[in-house]
Amino acid sequence: MSGSEKLWGGRFHGATASSVEAFTASIHYDSRLYKYDIRGSKAHATMLAENGLLTGEELKSIIDGLSSIEQDIDDGTFEFKAELEDIHMNIEKALVDRIGPAGAKLHSARSRNDQIALDFRMYLRDQCDHLSDLLEQVQKAFTLLARKYLGHVMPGYTHLQRAQPVMISHHLLAYFEMFGRDRHRFGDCKKRLNLSPLGCAAMAGTGLPINREMVAESLGFDGVTANSMDSSGDRDFAIEFANCCTITQLHLSRLSEELVLWSSKEFSFVEIDDRFCTGSSIMPQKKNPDIPELIRGKSGRVVGSLMSLITLVKGLPLTYNRDLQEDKEPLFDTIDTVSSSLSIMAELLENLRFRTGVMEEATRTGFMTATDLADYLVLKNVPFREAHGIVGRAVVGCIEKGCELVDLSLQELQEFSPVIEKDVYEVLSVQGSVNSRTSTGGTGITRVEEAVIQAEKLMGISE
Ligand code: ARG
Repeated sequence: MSGSEKLWGGRFHGATASSVEAFTASIHYDSRLYKYDIRGSKAHATMLAENGLLTGEELKSIIDGLSSIEQDIDDGTFEFKAELEDIHMNIEKALVDRIGPAGAKLHSARSRNDQIALDFRMYLRDQCDHLSDLLEQVQKAFTLLARKYLGHVMPGYTHLQRAQPVMISHHLLAYFEMFGRDRHRFGDCKKRLNLSPLGCAAMAGTGLPINREMVAESLGFDGVTANSMDSSGDRDFAIEFANCCTITQLHLSRLSEELVLWSSKEFSFVEIDDRFCTGSSIMPQKKNPDIPELIRGKSGRVVGSLMSLITLVKGLPLTYNRDLQEDKEPLFDTIDTVSSSLSIMAELLENLRFRTGVMEEATRTGFMTATDLADYLVLKNVPFREAHGIVGRAVVGCIEKGCELVDLSLQELQEFSPVIEKDVYEVLSVQGSVNSRTSTGGTGITRVEEAVIQAEKLMGISE
């Protein structure tokens, strides 16, 4: 393409080197933003007409021209050109080609710097809603599982060592909370990014008569950004969004790790449905948990994208710098990764089965009610540190005998502390231990049942 055909060609004598065109082009990925670009241009044109910068006729031909371009892109018949660099210039050039001089008036009082900031904010605003919806599906799946397995126990772990018995539903609802926080984070992120930068122009604002507030309102923004220099170079909103995505993916990764462990022969806590596993090309007996493994693995690229973005803005002087074009690919990849991970995880959970017998059996060994025995002594007025020592010695006694605390006779228990009475066996049982933890947020059955009901309410599931 010769220099004079370029929308910015006036100042140039010769054509751009084709290597430079290839190196600077972003159209192969920013074409994803076409709907936002067109919507923003229509709002901008409407405002220009309102302020006497376009006639009614010119406005109409711009709107119609943009609609026809959108239709062609929808249909896949629009030809994107790398030599036109990006989505903004591909659309603007097509508009000028289709409608003539009126099209050339569209870019008044606007720069690609505020245009890309606008498109990106509108796109991410929708993605906040989209990811929040997917997170809700995952939360729903957890709610249904928590209801289904209410009343069953499993070992709770610290340091991946058996610690205290808990309700399966309590463990499941821990994830409900984590993904709920993620949804709130996307909501907060959306609030902060939902301000229109359009009209900041290149970076200093414009002397042409415009109405930024009108454009902002028609595009569904809560208002306009305050400082034109800040707005043309600001990518805080993108970094914040990537951070929200990263925390979500980390939550998915932790969950995946548990699913990998739980579906192993060693744990045998869950059965992942055949449809969500794959086999081995050499070992006929294998059923591998590839989905959680891949989700766990994909966390790397999501964390990497966040690193790319923060490194990108580090050391950039105000205002817009071409470096900022590098903000889109990592974020698009993150969005694709987190979306697909969330939707497949929701499906997997909807089809997950727990082996409640194995899980309950696992609570019977490992001295899991040791803390309950210490608490029992505390209620008998033994200072907690002393109680801790007594129970520790009882555990050593059990290890020597090869039994659990509940297997010791009353007499044997009394050798460790004379205050122990017959009622101790209630606290040494798994069910007794779980039922006793009625503190707010604890694993006691009454608390967990309340939590399930609360989750169902939030998810709009009626029992
Ligand atoms: N494609 C560019 C980007 O994504 C649009 C802004 C270009 N501005 C400029 N002055 N070259 O950042």
